[in-house]
Amino acid sequence: MTANVHLFDHPLVQHKLTLLRKKETSTTSFRRLLNEIGSLMAYEVTRDMPMHEVEIETPLEKMRSRLIDGKKLVFVPILRAGMGLLDGFLSVVPGARVGHIGLYRDPKTLVAVEYYFKMPSGMKERDAIVLDPMLATGHSAVAAVERLKEAHPRSIRFVCLVSSPQGIATLRQAHPDVPIYTASVDRELNDHAYILPGLGDAGDRIFGTK
Ligand code: URA
Repeated sequence: MTANVHLFDHPLVQHKLTLLRKKETSTTSFRRLLNEIGSLMAYEVTRDMPMHEVEIETPLEKMRSRLIDGKKLVFVPILRAGMGLLDGFLSVVPGARVGHIGLYRDPKTLVAVEYYFKMPSGMKERDAIVLDPMLATGHSAVAAVERLKEAHPRSIRFVCLVSSPQGIATLRQAHPDVPIYTASVDRELNDHAYILPGLGDAGDRIFGTK
């Protein structure tokens, strides 16, 4: 695997991804599976968060125990498909803050155009986790991370479900400091920048808009 690219290879993630990919999977099941995958990913992607010790008192005695450093995490779904992963992440880290980045892909140029950006305060002390199920051309991922960097979070990680080799290379080249977490690197993009074999249009499958 390329440097700074992590594969979610847990059997539960891979099993649920297979079910998601199937064309006959309904919107209801797709949404539920994506939620379940989101919580498994959240568990994995927070594994090495920096911690510090504090002194606490149990009902029996004092002890030193560990807490995650800094302010609460911020999950940053890229609208709209990123929303499909959000609930799963929040089920594992309910106190996290949520920032939104609205980008759409210009159908002709495939360039990412921003229409919404809203982050919580105190970003300098927060670790940001960007959520987008599909890393296809990498254009929106690059644009989202670029914009997010202007808010100066303490760290940024990029989480996707399915990626293409091209998307990985593009994001890697633009932001080598941002680790990429993905459950699968698929074969290639088609002429419409859809991932093959992929799972189709994630937004349409989550929201039932097709
Ligand atoms: N966005 C999607 O939803 N699916 C793809 O295959 C590529 C981009």
